[in-house]
Amino acid sequence: MKQILGLLVILFFMFGCNNSEEKMLPEKVEKQDIVYDMYEPSEMANLMNQMYAYNLTIKNAIVAGEDIEEFPLDFLKIHSAELSDFKKRNLTFESFSKLFIDAEKELYNPDSEISETDRFNNVVNLCISCHQTECTGPIPRIKKLLIQ
Ligand code: HEC
Repeated sequence: MKQILGLLVILFFMFGCNNSEEKMLPEKVEKQDIVYDMYEPSEMANLMNQMYAYNLTIKNAIVAGEDIEEFPLDFLKIHSAELSDFKKRNLTFESFSKLFIDAEKELYNPDSEISETDRFNNVVNLCISCHQTECTGPIPRIKKLLIQ
């Protein structure tokens, strides 16, 4: 059990988006103690992990030449899902979510003249662009989604 917890903590620090400097600010310590003792992923973190897993299956389908289905409506939750305590929704986040959703919809557009691979990579590059603005931790992992 202890090992599993340790692993979770490591994973959190590797892939989560916390900012260790921010964590040290005295006025935040009280609240963060609770959060960090028992890390509970935010609604947004859960959504992100789902989007990662889903896009991995899409990548594999495209590479294998299989049909991809429909735009996953669940992804629209990016506009409303609650973020971790230390994060705030701002204008940059809103505009990147919109661009990201548009790119996702385009991926499932049967009339598009752009290749499926390029449309998929476009989606992944938007994941990365948004992450570059405030949450750089998961970027190396997201890059693995790109179809070479
Ligand atoms: C509009 C900005 C934005 C877009 C687009 C975006 N992300 Fe994120 N991502 C975030 C933010 C902000 C967090 C931190 C969420 C939190 O801690 O509440 C995050 C967290 C994550 C995490 C870590 C979750 C965890 O367990 O802590 C992963 C993995 C991730 N994103 C993958 C992706 C993938 C894959 C895509 C594209 C399919 C994507 N993201 C698109 C902003 C974005």
